[in-house]
Amino acid sequence: MIKAVRGTRDLLPPDTDLWNRVEAQVRDVFARYNYHEIRTPIFEDTQLFSRGVGEETDIVTKEMFTWEDKARGQSEKAQSLTLRPENTAGVVRAYIEHGLDKKGTLQKLYCIGPMFRRERPQKGRYRQFYQIDAEIIGPPSAGSESPLRDAELLEMLATLLDEVELHDWQLQLNSVGCAEDRARYNQALREALQPVVHLMCADCQRRAETNPLRVLDCKVPEDQPIIEKLPKIGQYLDEPCRAHFAAVQSMLNAVGIAYTINERMVRGLDYYTRTTFEFTHGGLGAQSAVLGGGRYDGLSESLDGPKAPGIGFAIGEDRLILALQSQGEKPAEKVQAYIAPLGAGMNRHALKLARELRRAGISADIGDETFRLKKSFESAEKAGARFIVIVGENEVAAEQFAVKNLASGEQVQVPRADLAAHLQR
Ligand code: HAM
Repeated sequence: MIKAVRGTRDLLPPDTDLWNRVEAQVRDVFARYNYHEIRTPIFEDTQLFSRGVGEETDIVTKEMFTWEDKARGQSEKAQSLTLRPENTAGVVRAYIEHGLDKKGTLQKLYCIGPMFRRERPQKGRYRQFYQIDAEIIGPPSAGSESPLRDAELLEMLATLLDEVELHDWQLQLNSVGCAEDRARYNQALREALQPVVHLMCADCQRRAETNPLRVLDCKVPEDQPIIEKLPKIGQYLDEPCRAHFAAVQSMLNAVGIAYTINERMVRGLDYYTRTTFEFTHGGLGAQSAVLGGGRYDGLSESLDGPKAPGIGFAIGEDRLILALQSQGEKPAEKVQAYIAPLGAGMNRHALKLARELRRAGISADIGDETFRLKKSFESAEKAGARFIVIVGENEVAAEQFAVKNLASGEQVQVPRADLAAHLQR
């Protein structure tokens, strides 16, 4: 038997009803905040990620699905291609490629789709997973650097999670400063690590050389006391970065959004500058981040684009759904009406009635032809219907149908003209 590839999974009904409910609510929130959809390709030139996300990151060094695309014919060149592991780099590439900076306004863009990382699969961690990604990007003259953008984006996320009814989320906030701050901080980390690094895990020993900031991501219990004593990034922010972060916090306080400062949260992608954040949820176990994001003021320029500061986030949709399910969230009700034709001769009448109801906005299913009422009731219950509508010869002749509420057991005769309204209640 051929099975789905390790780390991938099929999403089936009724779970997909919950996915669709969440996506519809999210699109509604985005519309109210004036975001518009962008759809970028699922694979890109490998260099986009190695340069955009960072050569030293886990994503680029070990998690990308990359292949060599052979040339077909003289006019094509062989090219290294990669399934997108994230979408910020793709959105910024599209922003540059289509000259969106020339519009002179802020671009508020969102995208919902699959991402691919070759990670070790476990609950909440897959090799194909889905992100709901949003980005605000634009020229500095349009206010793209303003801390107001950071606060507005975080406020939108709080509203979005409230509206999909995720309870008890936590916002963890940090600032990783600008490139110069980080260079100074990295240097300080290197110096602080030097006398102790031989006591740490193999990963940390390597990171201490290549990218000391990543040591802060280490989860090995024995390394934690050492990491706790390392210098904190907050001490290395320059005055403008400090003021920017303070302004973000004061606006969050003004709108009443609670957060915790977590100076160890440095995020796994190299493009971040200044504000970084994650929203976590207790129902997720080890993979507790429902979403993550931050500012990336230099990303466009590092991809040969214009100066275009930006900030964005990506919700791990698989994890958001898991978190909702951990709260006992059930997929929506299945079908409003089950229409039961009593015998083959009644099929065309059932079809006609179903057409009328469906066009009036009622979700309806038509049962199998059967002469037995008992079997029809069983089928209606299996389908999860709220009502069963009986279509027999007498009903059709009288233009009046027997309707039973399957939850309450109440049965009434309803004239054809009133049927849709009755089922709607
Ligand atoms: P990220 O933190 O790598 O950020 O991913 C964002 C979210 O995607 C995570 O918090 C998690 O919920 C989900 N996620 C990541 N990997 C997996 C996986 N293997 N399986 C299931 N879910 C996963 C980014 O991707 C940035 N592009 C976010 C961003 C947008 N920053 C600025 N703009």
